[in-house]
Amino acid sequence: MKDNARRHLPATASKTLCAMAEGALLAGHDLMAASEQLKGLTVTEKTAGDFVSEADVRAENVIFDHLMRRHPRYGWLGEETAERISQEDGLRWIVDPLDGTTNFLKGLPHWAVSIALFRGNDPLAGLIYDPVKGEMFCAEKGAGAYLNGRAITVSKAVQMSAALVASGIPAGGRTTYLPHSLEDLERLMPQTAGLRRWGAAALDLAYVAAGRFDAYWERNLGPWDVAAGMLIVEEAGGQFSPLWADRPVLTSGSFLASNGALHDVVEAALNLKHV
Ligand code: IPD
Ligand code: CA
Ligand code: CA
Repeated sequence: MKDNARRHLPATASKTLCAMAEGALLAGHDLMAASEQLKGLTVTEKTAGDFVSEADVRAENVIFDHLMRRHPRYGWLGEETAERISQEDGLRWIVDPLDGTTNFLKGLPHWAVSIALFRGNDPLAGLIYDPVKGEMFCAEKGAGAYLNGRAITVSKAVQMSAALVASGIPAGGRTTYLPHSLEDLERLMPQTAGLRRWGAAALDLAYVAAGRFDAYWERNLGPWDVAAGMLIVEEAGGQFSPLWADRPVLTSGSFLASNGALHDVVEAALNLKHV
């Protein structure tokens, strides 16, 4: 497992990042097996349109065991298990074991494992692993961003007319920001080369970092959706900012990520009022 993890990482990767990659590979392996047996999975609905399967929970347990064995005093904030408060210098893992559950359950090959290490509210390392495509995105603070060990940077696009922009629109019972999202789409659609809604926030952020998307915004996500990706975008030379200056992204889950050059123009098109 160690060698396999190293193969996906830059030569500069710390031991911590290696451990994160190992955890992601272990969870990814289990999730790939589960994706072959979708009919046998127990699935429950947390709220309308928000699903969790036994594969989500198993993957989080695998990552928890792997990382907490190494650092039992670190805190834990995961989507599917109980929070643990840090007992060591504010260090804590923030984990989404399966981002894109709806895609996964529908057999759509676009989902990922997302693992971040934070000190308090500051990201130190982030890793996003897409087992279907064999892509591992990662970053450590001050050390650049990488895809399968190769440095990545955000796009150089400066024209909105050539920009490919991603978002997530609320689904099911999450209607609070539905009018805002529809307004955003109406304003941005005619300005861009295209809008995408692919259903895995972690990959949307990773794709901004890799220059595949020029910008991406969303509202009301969980901290585990954005924790790894926000650092990867910044380390790839991009810009990541809360939609509301007085509400940090880890609490509001509302943000804009971009290549920097298009940040202001995309932001100007968004409805920035909060409810
Ligand atoms: C979801 C995905 C999706 C976003 C949702 C998230 P999950 O995460 O990231 O793209 O629009 O709001 O909840 O539930 O699949 O981990
Ligand atoms: Ca998620
Ligand atoms: Ca999830």
